[in-house]
Amino acid sequence: MAALKVGVLLSGRGSNLQALLDAAAAARYPAKIVVAISNRADAPGLDRARRALVPAETLPHRAFHDREAFDRALDAALAKHGVEFVCLAGFMRLLTPWFVDRWRDRLINIHPSLLPAFKGLEPQAQALAAGVRVSGCTVHFVRNDVDSGPIILQAAVPVIDGDNRDTLAARILEAEHRAYPLALRLIAEGRVRIEGERVAVAGIGASGILMSPGGR
Ligand code: GRF
Repeated sequence: MAALKVGVLLSGRGSNLQALLDAAAAARYPAKIVVAISNRADAPGLDRARRALVPAETLPHRAFHDREAFDRALDAALAKHGVEFVCLAGFMRLLTPWFVDRWRDRLINIHPSLLPAFKGLEPQAQALAAGVRVSGCTVHFVRNDVDSGPIILQAAVPVIDGDNRDTLAARILEAEHRAYPLALRLIAEGRVRIEGERVAVAGIGASGILMSPGGR
């Protein structure tokens, strides 16, 4: 089967893009990253794409008069590269309903909390402030409400006494780097179905939660 052609949207560091590029470098991985697009020209993630010989494009949001004009240009850039599926990886722009609907069920995001807890900005700090003992990350389909949509998989990590925002974020990030390539693989293998607004994953039974470290 031909590899699923994936576009990655990002705004910054790009460590999740890197995890996807690394996974896709394996011959048997069922998806291929065909373009990385950033709204910021200085996003370090763009260099990660270039190093992997993946086209890297910048679409500066300030060049567009409104959000939908930006989103239409984004859509055109994705189409130009033959993208079939989009992964958000630290993309710090709100997408319009026009874009979200156009890519419905072909657009996923990763968020560094166990959704629906701690939506929005600084979820790691929110988790610490709430005093939870477990946090993690969530890979989910994108819907119009921020950080909502059918959950594909989650990885849990402990919150350890003495953690600060950075130590917790680093532990969650390690889990993200396993979860995102796994979620994309399951999708590209055709094992992910959305039923209502819940996801069923064929072949992994009840283990939709990956315990981390170690769970793969
Ligand atoms: C990650 O924590 C991701 O979950 C969130 O934004 C961050 C992006 O990090 N959506 P990176 O750019 O992938 O390193």
